[in-house]
Amino acid sequence: MSLRNAPMQTPVPHPDKTSLFRPDIRAEIDHWIAKYPPEWQQSACMAALMIVQEDNGGHLTTELMDKVADYLDMPPIAVYEVGSFYAMYEHKPVGRHKICLCTNISCMLNGSDHIYQHLQQRLGIRFGEVTEDGQFSLKEVECLGACCGAPMMQIGKTYYEHLTPQRVDQILDRLEAADGK
Ligand code: FES
Repeated sequence: MSLRNAPMQTPVPHPDKTSLFRPDIRAEIDHWIAKYPPEWQQSACMAALMIVQEDNGGHLTTELMDKVADYLDMPPIAVYEVGSFYAMYEHKPVGRHKICLCTNISCMLNGSDHIYQHLQQRLGIRFGEVTEDGQFSLKEVECLGACCGAPMMQIGKTYYEHLTPQRVDQILDRLEAADGK
């Protein structure tokens, strides 16, 4: 049976939700739950996944997705669907700085290949890999909506646009210095 046709089981409310996450994590998720009507708390699923992913060093696990499902009274499969559909969720460890390089059309036409080559040389990793020291990981992404600044990359919550190899070096130098390297 395909996942699409799998019956959606009614989730059994978790008996003690306070045991699922630390108080600070619960407070962050509850902040998002409060934005929606009580019967639509599942709308906080995307935010909850981001919160637990960040708290887990940048990637999700099945156990964490199950906890989110319990917390939001959702079937686990529904949470897996969200977690596996959107590119911002990771399912294996990433670097402390996750470099997301856009290779979509505007960025490609403006030299993202060249930027990728430079990143590969500087970091010694390719897309989908993490540096040995765990400091950087490299990810290929689709358009991030900053085509006017192509070529561009995102690191953490910051967009870096109009990239050149020199500018990439300045950005990475700054991050390394901030990390005490
Ligand atoms: S194509 Fe790269 S941000 Fe749009």
